Amino acid sequence: MRHPILRLGDEGLRRPTRPVTVFDASLHALVDDMIETMHAAPGIGLAAPQIGLDLQLCVIDLSVGASHADLIVLANPHFVERRGMQLESEGCLSVPTFYATVARASEVVVRGQDRDGVWRTYDGSGLLARAFQHELDHLRGRIFVDRLQGLQRRLLLGRITRLRAKGRW
Ligand code: NI
Repeated sequence: MRHPILRLGDEGLRRPTRPVTVFDASLHALVDDMIETMHAAPGIGLAAPQIGLDLQLCVIDLSVGASHADLIVLANPHFVERRGMQLESEGCLSVPTFYATVARASEVVVRGQDRDGVWRTYDGSGLLARAFQHELDHLRGRIFVDRLQGLQRRLLLGRITRLRAKGRW
C-alpha cells in the first residue's frame, strides 16, 4: 500500500524518532509499503518520518526497483565512518521539484539492522553515500534544505512559501 508523503512544513518530518524493536510481520508489511511508496514516487530513498511515522527506519534503492540487489532496508542505522567531501545536486520526495547543491561526505560506512533485525554494514561512496546521509538526516528530523545557507536557502524557502500561500504546496 502506498502512503502519502509529507511535505516540508509538516511537523511530522521534524519529530524525534524511536528505535525499531520488533521485527515481525507488521514491520515487514510497513517496509514493503515504504518500498512501494518510494518506487511509485519515484525516488531512491524514503524515511519513516516522511510517511508520518516516528521510527528509525528507512529504505534506499538507487535502481528505483530495477535491481533487487540495490535495495537496502535500514533500521536503527548509525555511521561508523564518514570521509571526504562531495558537492552535488540533491532533492527530496518531501520537497518535490526543488534541488540544491549540498555538501556531504564522499564515502561512508553505515551499520543498521535489516528487516529481520540482523545487523549489517554498508560501504557507500558517491550517490549511495549521499543517500545514506540524506536518509539518516530524516531520522533526526533534518531535511536537506536545513543544510543550505545564505541566498540559496532564502530563495528556495521563499519559493515554497509563495507556493504554500497559493495553496499549491
Ligand atoms: Ni528526503
